[in-house]
Amino acid sequence: MDGNGRWATARGKTRLAGHSAGVEVASDVVRYAIKYGIPYLSLYAFSTENANRPKAEVQGLMRLARSAFAKSDKLNEQGIRILISGTPQGLDDDLVRSIGLIEKSTANNRAITVNICFNYGGRRELSDAVNKIIASGVKSVDEQSLRNYMYHGELPDCDVIVRTGGYMRLSNFLIYQSSYSELYFTDTLWPDFSENEFLRVLEYFKGCKRNFGKV
Ligand code: FPP
Repeated sequence: MDGNGRWATARGKTRLAGHSAGVEVASDVVRYAIKYGIPYLSLYAFSTENANRPKAEVQGLMRLARSAFAKSDKLNEQGIRILISGTPQGLDDDLVRSIGLIEKSTANNRAITVNICFNYGGRRELSDAVNKIIASGVKSVDEQSLRNYMYHGELPDCDVIVRTGGYMRLSNFLIYQSSYSELYFTDTLWPDFSENEFLRVLEYFKGCKRNFGKV
């Protein structure tokens, strides 16, 4: 969800105002996903690297997360199941508690599963997985069983990854789960991402011939 900062600066607003607008658009996109029958949606809300931003911006993002993770009534009304992927390390205790609570209170919802990657890094997910394997005493894993040690191994691989904001890179996002993802890059800044562009992503994906390495 890249481009919040540039969107805000272009309007003479603070970067945090951009992130607030970004939260609104994220919630719109969840609605589009439900409307068009997408069963799983992952949102990259805060990376382990984002923790190195200026303190005020990090604190602002944490405030937005606190408020988003406190909205279980609204989520339950819409049938939204929330999973959070990321490390609790470095997060305030109350935020870690609210992550546990929102996952628990939305666990039975079935309209869509929204995986919020928060305090998330793909390499960190892999090193956490290796440490879980060592701690469990398991002596070997294969490509599939490795999945069980991810933050949410029950999630399927990503079919298509959308990056807004003009850069063409994955920035440590779901690196195990994106091995065969289709990639959609757009210059649109995240707060400008619209239902029309969501539909363009679906059209793009429909047009992809998926070989998974075969002919
Ligand atoms: C990248 O844009 C965006 C982020 C680092 C944060 C994205 C987060 C949200 C949209 C919502 C947050 C939701 C929760 C639950 C906390 P940027 O700031 O790098 O934009 P720029 O490249 O234009 O500077």
